[in-house]
Amino acid sequence: MSRTAIYPGSFDPLTYGHVSIIERGLRVFDEIIVGIAINVRKQPLFTVSERTELIERSFPGESRLKIDSFEGLLIDYANTRGSQVILRGLRAVSDFEYELQMANMNRKLDDTIETMFMMTEESHFYVSSGLVKEVARFGGSVQDQVPDHVEEALAEKFAANNA
Ligand code: PNS
Repeated sequence: MSRTAIYPGSFDPLTYGHVSIIERGLRVFDEIIVGIAINVRKQPLFTVSERTELIERSFPGESRLKIDSFEGLLIDYANTRGSQVILRGLRAVSDFEYELQMANMNRKLDDTIETMFMMTEESHFYVSSGLVKEVARFGGSVQDQVPDHVEEALAEKFAANNA
C-alpha cells in the first residue's frame, strides 16, 4: 500500500526548513503532496503559481513530489487527495501550541487523518518565511535560509514593489 502525506502550508516563500522536511518526508512516505494553502486572510508576497515554481525548482525530476494548492479546510483537501497523513515541521517551542491546536481541531473534524510532526533540523530552527521576507525586504542576506533561486525571486519582487 502506498503511503501519501500532505505537507500543507503557505510556502510564501519556500525556505531551507521546508526543503529539509520534504527531503526527509520522502524517506518516510512514498509520495508527498505539497498543499499550498490559499488563505483569504493572508496577503501573500508570491502568487500560487510563483510559489509552485519556486518549490518545483528545488526538486527537479522528483516524481514522488506533487505540488498543488487548496482552498477551504485542510481535512477536506486531504480526503479529496486520498491521504490519511498531514505532515508538519516543528521548530522551536513557540510553534508547539499553534500546531497542537490545529492537530486537535483537525482530529475533531476527522479522526481518520493523522497529523505527524518532524522536528526541524537544528540549523533551520529559526528560519521562517516571515522573517526571511522582512530581512530581504530591507536588503539583508537570506542566503543561508533559502535556496539561491528563492533569494533571487525575493530580490526581484522587492525591487519591483519599490519601483
Ligand atoms: O505555513 P502555515 O501558514 O503555518 O500553514 C498553515 C495551514 C495552511 C496549514 C493552516 O492555516 C490550514 O490548514 N489552513 C487551511 C484551513 C483549515 O483547514 N483551517 C483549520 C485548521 S485547524
